Amino acid sequence: MGSTGESRQPFEPFRIKVVEAIPNPSPERREAALVRAGYNLFGLLSDEIRVDLLTDSGTSAMSDRQWAGLQTGDESYAGSRNFTHFEAVAREITGFPHILPAHQGRAAENLLFSAMVQPGMIVPNNMHFDTTQAHVRHKGGIPQNLAISEAYDPRSEHPFKGDVNLERLQALLDGPDRPRIPLVMVTITNNTGGGQPVSLTNLTAVSAICQAHHVPLYLDMCRWAENAYFIKEREPGMSGLSIGEIGHRIFALADGATMSAKKDGLVNIGGFVATRDAELFDRLKELLILYEGFPTYGGLARRDLEAMAIGLREAMEFDYLAYRVGQVRYLAERLEARGVPIFRPVGGHGVYLDVTRFLDHMDPKELPGQALVVEIYREGGIRTVEIGSIMFGDSEDGSHPPLELVRLAIPRRVYTSSHMEYVAECVGRVYARRKSVRGLRMTHSPERLRHFTARFAPL
Ligand code: F0G
Repeated sequence: MGSTGESRQPFEPFRIKVVEAIPNPSPERREAALVRAGYNLFGLLSDEIRVDLLTDSGTSAMSDRQWAGLQTGDESYAGSRNFTHFEAVAREITGFPHILPAHQGRAAENLLFSAMVQPGMIVPNNMHFDTTQAHVRHKGGIPQNLAISEAYDPRSEHPFKGDVNLERLQALLDGPDRPRIPLVMVTITNNTGGGQPVSLTNLTAVSAICQAHHVPLYLDMCRWAENAYFIKEREPGMSGLSIGEIGHRIFALADGATMSAKKDGLVNIGGFVATRDAELFDRLKELLILYEGFPTYGGLARRDLEAMAIGLREAMEFDYLAYRVGQVRYLAERLEARGVPIFRPVGGHGVYLDVTRFLDHMDPKELPGQALVVEIYREGGIRTVEIGSIMFGDSEDGSHPPLELVRLAIPRRVYTSSHMEYVAECVGRVYARRKSVRGLRMTHSPERLRHFTARFAPL
């Protein structure tokens, strides 16, 4: 770890059985693509991209066992055996008795918040992801971010920067707003704040505060296995436990969870919502039938449930996680060796560039995060995403200005060390010529989730 410049290539704990050709768009094609897309990389076609680090969500390579599982799809509308398998795995991992499949994380959020959040209610979280925040707002609720202050300092080496600020949570629940708080959420790992883990100690304290105030605690568990890996590595007394055992300790502290299995479920589509509350479960089931489908398929083909059941287990294998986190660290070290300023410490699912230091000559009005995303694409055909004032600037809770980051999210089991080397070289070249990077202005700004569809023009 750290900027020693002595990176070891992580050992990929798999052999490659099927390959997919990587496009190599020319500089002219990349420039034309930028113009057509309005300088928003969500508007690019995959053939225009050399290395796609837009997201780690739904972009994993499935294993031979998962592909074999697809062949065993039992496409019964009700009572499919793939559902039985999936339900057993999700129960075993989380200990939550009631499990409902959904097509992805935000569908699970929609169900949970539709059942629990009324207009004017407040939902605290360490840091909301953008879809989570948008779903709270869509129900008329008020999302509130309660991360510790170190979470907003890209240079702080705090080992658990995803932790909740306990004093603020306690004060909120002790205060006059208590009746307006239907649940507390904690996102593991904290994606918006650099993919940083939450400690078991912090979760234990959050759980105790919630219990004392009779407020249910729900986890956004998309990247729970990566979070558990960090707990094993960094938290005293945890190194002897398996990822599954750490998971049991985590989930025992909560009342339920939402899951996007597109992350630590190693599938291209899938998710679920889980709870201990039998009454809530009945309400969720009604909503599920309304929005997603019958409770034994939840908006998915049954074969997808089989792939998810297998992927949920593979994502908690120690060798896989050591490689996974090791690959993210490897890229970070190669970047730091070139002087590139990154958000520290390195998180679980990607490297986040510290835009404020990377483009320190640019005014925030010139949209430096998006300008950097555009420049990295221009340099090497690499697609990344802005996580900063464009994603959150219109909607943060006001207690902190949003972090200005560019995320290089690494898809699971997809790219090799030489791809990481290529990425580090390209970003290093942009850093070397950073004074030449031009700003942007927004020409189209949608009201909600604007970073997906906004358009820009060079200044
Ligand atoms: N919660 C977190 C922490 C997420 O990172 C995401 C998705 C979701 C919920 C929603 O899940 O996409 O399955 O509906 N994050 C993706 C990303 C999109 O790129 O970080 P979903």
